[in-house]
Amino acid sequence: MFGKRGQGAPQTVTADAAAKAAPAELTGVSEAPSENKKPKMPAPEAVAKNAPKSASAATRSDDYYAVKQSIFAALIDTIDLGQLAQLDQKSARDEIRDIVTEIIQLKNVVMSISEQENLLEDICNDVLGYGPLEPLLARDDIADIMVNGAGRVFIEVEGKVELTPIRFRDNTQLMNICQRIVSQVGRRVDESAPICDARLQDGSRVNVIAPPLSIDGPSLTIRKFKRDKLTLKDFVNYGSINEAGADILGIMGASRCNVLISGGTGSGKTTLLNCMTGFIDVTERIITCEDAAELQLQQPHVVRLETRPPNIEGFGEITMRDLVRNCLRMRPERIVVGEVRGPEAFDLLQAMNTGHDGSMGTLHANSPREAMSRLESMITMGGFNLPSKTIREMICGSIDVIIQAERMRDGSRRITHITEVLGQEGDVIITQDLMLYELEGEDNGKIRGHHRGTGIARPAFWDRARYFNLHGKLANALDRLNEEF
Ligand SMILES: Nc1ncnc2c1ncn2[C@@H]1O[C@H](COP(=O)(O)OP(=O)(O)OP(=O)(O)O)[C@@H](O)[C@H]1O
Ligand SMILES: [Mg+2]
Repeated sequence: MFGKRGQGAPQTVTADAAAKAAPAELTGVSEAPSENKKPKMPAPEAVAKNAPKSASAATRSDDYYAVKQSIFAALIDTIDLGQLAQLDQKSARDEIRDIVTEIIQLKNVVMSISEQENLLEDICNDVLGYGPLEPLLARDDIADIMVNGAGRVFIEVEGKVELTPIRFRDNTQLMNICQRIVSQVGRRVDESAPICDARLQDGSRVNVIAPPLSIDGPSLTIRKFKRDKLTLKDFVNYGSINEAGADILGIMGASRCNVLISGGTGSGKTTLLNCMTGFIDVTERIITCEDAAELQLQQPHVVRLETRPPNIEGFGEITMRDLVRNCLRMRPERIVVGEVRGPEAFDLLQAMNTGHDGSMGTLHANSPREAMSRLESMITMGGFNLPSKTIREMICGSIDVIIQAERMRDGSRRITHITEVLGQEGDVIITQDLMLYELEGEDNGKIRGHHRGTGIARPAFWDRARYFNLHGKLANALDRLNEEF
């Protein structure tokens, strides 16, 4: 259609057009192979154990990359990238497919139809998408994609981390893909700004750290967005919590308890927070503050806010604290903070204390008790100069419940504690557990255990539940939870 075929000698692509349409591959692609060479397409090696679902993700040999690179170089010489960038994805793919098929014929590359299909897909992904990452991004069973330089790509599937056969041509290609990802949210990553948070269009959270900070090439981490969001029902089906425990969490969400979800990295905090927000009434005005917008609230009245890193001159940073403080002037009924990690803890606790009950947040800690001491140290380190007794009073007066999530060593995620914060006795914060996860043992590498109640029939949030006319449901859930007690 608009290829530069038939216009005499192949033209060189302008840097601008190239950057627009194919920044991922351009660098380092300069020589097209001689026409009379007849490269033989190597069969992709079979990948036994970690075989990704897409054929194009199969292990590629060096020969494959050499053939691909030569065809790619010829494609870049032929196609007008500026015009390609104007097309929608489907037409652009069709255009590339036509040209690549022609190049394969012209070059007499020997390959089967399926090999040709794989190559076509790889090239389309390189020019239009995220290159070798595309087949991984298309899968919905992956929780995390972790790229440690061009040669090593790990994924987390069903709680287990495994090495994939995917690799990038070199660190330049990887860096270009990182650049393409972050530029979509108006950011950049390079030697002078080597750390960057971003998100993909589908909502997946992305972190890039580039050389010289990352010594062995750019490191890219993607927390994949799940198309089918987990619900508390799924949590019950996976054994992450029992039915009675899930009902109690739902009642806490609906009766406007101030909730802190604590857990280690990747333990399922954000997922649980998302589930808990599902119990917020549709009439309430909710404001979410996040570093990279991950939450997906279903209510109609939601304002989503995102922090902003400083620009290259070091100006313009908007911190989580700025967002939380601004929230208070936005007439919020509920404030949801994706992750509390600094002085915003103070503002969130104050908000919880002053009429914005039902606010929620997550925090990295290994137990409910540790979560409280982390809150305390965040406030102390924020330079508020408050005596520790006052900070603890604030914590007791604000947080109603701490829910602990854990990623167990077999890869499963469990809610291990539902703990109420009761008050203070002297210097000590008093808590009471409503539900605990009890380990029993291990069967074939799978952790065995069960959730149990602790015999509490009147939790501290009883009156709150009663106010929302949920005390009957709560009594029933507690009875079931405490059955074996
Ligand atoms: N109960 C669960 N059962 C199975 N998978 C889960 C469960 N909870 C969360 N996951 C999956 O685990 C992955 C990590 O979840 P999530 O993003 O909620 O973790 P996180 O604790 O917020 O991580 P981070 O500390 O990096 O923010 C996601 O892919 C999510 O779908
Ligand atoms: Mg999270």
